[in-house]
Amino acid sequence: MRIHQVNDYREMSQKAASIVSSQVILKKTSVLGLATGSTPEGMYHRLIEMYHEGIADFSQITTFNLDEYLGLSPQHPQSYHYYMNQHFFEHIDIPATNINIPPGKIENSENVCREYDKRIAASGGIDLQVLGIGVNGHIGFNEPDQYLNVGTHVVDLTEETIETNSRFFTSREEVPRQAITKGMGSIMQARRVLLLASGKSKAQAIRDTVNGKVTTRVPASFLQLHPQFILVLDKEAASLL
Ligand code: F6R
Repeated sequence: MRIHQVNDYREMSQKAASIVSSQVILKKTSVLGLATGSTPEGMYHRLIEMYHEGIADFSQITTFNLDEYLGLSPQHPQSYHYYMNQHFFEHIDIPATNINIPPGKIENSENVCREYDKRIAASGGIDLQVLGIGVNGHIGFNEPDQYLNVGTHVVDLTEETIETNSRFFTSREEVPRQAITKGMGSIMQARRVLLLASGKSKAQAIRDTVNGKVTTRVPASFLQLHPQFILVLDKEAASLL
């Protein structure tokens, strides 16, 4: 595990963007695992700047997003499809055919999930997986539970996650109750994992992730077992370490 501690959100975003861009510079055909949420917004912003500055070229990368809400169409402003287009994809030169995001409108979830895992495997596997972390230690939508899933699966969101994510919706009732997410196995199989966290609200989850026992009650704690686990934390997120 390697921890980079920085001062604030801006520095976290810059450091994260430099790790992602180095990956892409070293291997133009990199396969990236991507996350949404408020944490990586600044990283995407910096990556777009690097693209315009001619530092980063995304024309040959392939991406696999972590998750999507179930029931939301790609055009819904709170869908992760919409987020990714708005914050990253429509500003860079990635071909649309290289973008993979779990679909939010599905009929046969079993098939859709197996298909997503197969596509990741067929791409050669994830070179660098970017993650945020929930205040309860979730990664993707792998929520604290007695058991965790290995592959891509459909999950019921916890009350805590519904509450936390309601800030993005006009009311709590509008927050979808289910999501489709990569499983712990899909995340752990990435060659490198980059977890970003900013702010006091993440401090306890970061402490449990870095220093706690490996437990399904804190899904991110499994990352202690990953041989190439990188954390970029601002002062507040690292304040309980
Ligand atoms: C997003 C995701 C989630 C978020 C986490 C933190 O694709 O998988 O696990 O990373 O909920 O969200 P923010 O960054 O909004 O605090």
